[in-house]
This record gives sequence, C-alpha cells and structure tokens, in this order.
Amino acid sequence: MSKPRVFVTRRLLESGLSLVQEFCEADIWFGEMPPSREEILGKIAGQDGLLCLLTDRIDAEVMEAAGPGLKVISNCAVGVDNVDVSAATARSIPVGNTPGVLTEATADMTFALLMAAARRVVEGERQVRSGGWKTWSLDNLLGADFAGATLGLVGFGRIGRAVARRASGFGMRVIYTDPNPTAPQPGEEALQVDLDTLLHESDFVSLHTPLTDETRGMMNAAAFAKMKATAVLVNTSRGPVVDQPALYQVLKSHQIFAAALDVTVPEPLPTDNPLLTLENCIIVPHIASASRQTRQNMSRMAAENLIAGLKGERLPNCVNPEVYGREQG
Ligand code: DGY
Repeated sequence: MSKPRVFVTRRLLESGLSLVQEFCEADIWFGEMPPSREEILGKIAGQDGLLCLLTDRIDAEVMEAAGPGLKVISNCAVGVDNVDVSAATARSIPVGNTPGVLTEATADMTFALLMAAARRVVEGERQVRSGGWKTWSLDNLLGADFAGATLGLVGFGRIGRAVARRASGFGMRVIYTDPNPTAPQPGEEALQVDLDTLLHESDFVSLHTPLTDETRGMMNAAAFAKMKATAVLVNTSRGPVVDQPALYQVLKSHQIFAAALDVTVPEPLPTDNPLLTLENCIIVPHIASASRQTRQNMSRMAAENLIAGLKGERLPNCVNPEVYGREQG
C-alpha cells in the first residue's frame, strides 16, 4: 500500500524525522532557510499532510494550493499564530501543536532572561570583553533584587505557572492576569489582578500570552507608562505583543529599567534595529524552547500529530477539536 504524501517544511530532529520517514512518503525541506512562499505553494500541491514550523505562514491560499486531499496540518510549536486555524477549521482540517513538552524549558529561559536583564549579565560581559572593566567598585552595574520583589505574569497558562513555581524559590511575590484563569496549584502561589494593577505593582513583568487580536500590541506606550522606572520586561511569547518602537523609547529614556526579548518583529531583527543600540535591552534568537530534549520532544509530538491525522485518527494535540465535533454531529 502506498504511503501518504506529506510536505515537511524543515528538517525535524531525529525522534520526529524517523517517525515521519517510516510512515510517510515525505518531501522534506532540508534548506537552512525556510522555504519561500512560492516554494510552499508549489510543494504543498497534492499532499495529504503538512508539517510546518512557526516560520511558515499557512493560510487559506496554502490550503487551497494543497487541494482537497489535505488531511492534517501539524505545527511544530505550541503557538499557532502562523496558521490560519479558522481557514483550516472551515475545511475540516485538524491543526496540531506541541503543548506541554516545552513548558519547563521556556520557563527556564524566562528566568534566565529575567536574571540576565535585572543583573546586567550581558552588559557586564561586554564590559569585560571590551576592556571597559577597570576595577571592582561598589557601584559597577547595579541591578535589581529578586527576593521580596513582585513578578507580574501576563498569562497564567502552563508556562506562566511554571515561571511562578520558579519565582517562589526566589522569594518573590507573584501576581498574574489571564482572561481564562485556572486556580494556582500548590507551589504556584499567585494572586490574580487586573492588568493595570499588575503593571503598577510589578518589579518584573513577564509575557506568556498567545498572540491574538486582543494581545497584539498590548505592551504599548500606555502600558509602559504604568510600569515602575525600576521594572524589567521579559517577552518569551510572541514579538507582536510588544510595540517595539514604544519599547525603544521607554528603555532609552529609562522610563523602565531593562527588557529581554526572546521574540521580536521581525525575526531575525535587522542588525540596524534601534533596540540593538541599547545597553539595557537583551535580544536572543527565539530560543526559549531550545533545549536538546525539548526540541526532540517537539519534533516527535509534531510527527505524532501528523501521523494521527493521516490515519484519520484524532490528533493527540489538536487546537481546533471542533472539526471532530462537526463530524460526530
Ligand atoms: C512555540 O512553540 O510556540 C515557541 O515559540 C517555540 O518553541
């Protein structure tokens, strides 16, 4: 029996690659750079399945180019803002993602960024490398304290809660805002507040929200104006949640203390972007989930979603389960 045909938009790590190659006739894009729009539109034609990355915009045009045989879209990420999920749902195509497996790695990186920005680690490293460090002194590179400080989590899903667990070990008070809150579990002691209160009271603000119409640009000049002058902002969610020109202004004028961004608009950020001129801004290349085991787990999970969809089974992790309800109903 012939194997189902799939397009995989980038090389998966071994745990996922071997599964896909065993079960599918896979056209895998091995380029270092993602396939272009034209290449995606060309490659997807006639495929039964698509396994894509967050760098690929998968919209109705791509689904149309695939033709009526497209049975599943598996995104190798927990965020699915690169996929037009409504367009997939309208075509009864299940969309898979990779929740859970990247929670701890992303929370670790959030803390790494919080600490690096608050304690000026990157600035200090630059000082040493450039020969700018002349002697130990009491006031070189003073940063923020963690014990007793308030951490504000914008979004209290899996990752936000994992950050809260880490914060308790640092003796921090945690507050959060979330439109669909679930009660904190033991070890996640945190108080729900509204966004204004969170911005006013937090010494650290960390973003853990999906990118939606509501969250796009939510960290804008008005939001920054509510933050403390000593506050640190960390974004490991999606770049467009932060209004970057407004962030540049408040960092430059020291209206807030520092920021660390794992995600930006665009990615990569052009090297002449003004944010990269600031000592109090750390930018890393969307690596919050980039631990060895996590990326293996994401690859495997994405492959499992793909294969389930090809078999006509329910995806283990599906962001539009209503496609099944419709079939059953
Ligand atoms: C995701 O999965 O959405 C992250 O941004 C990458 O791991």
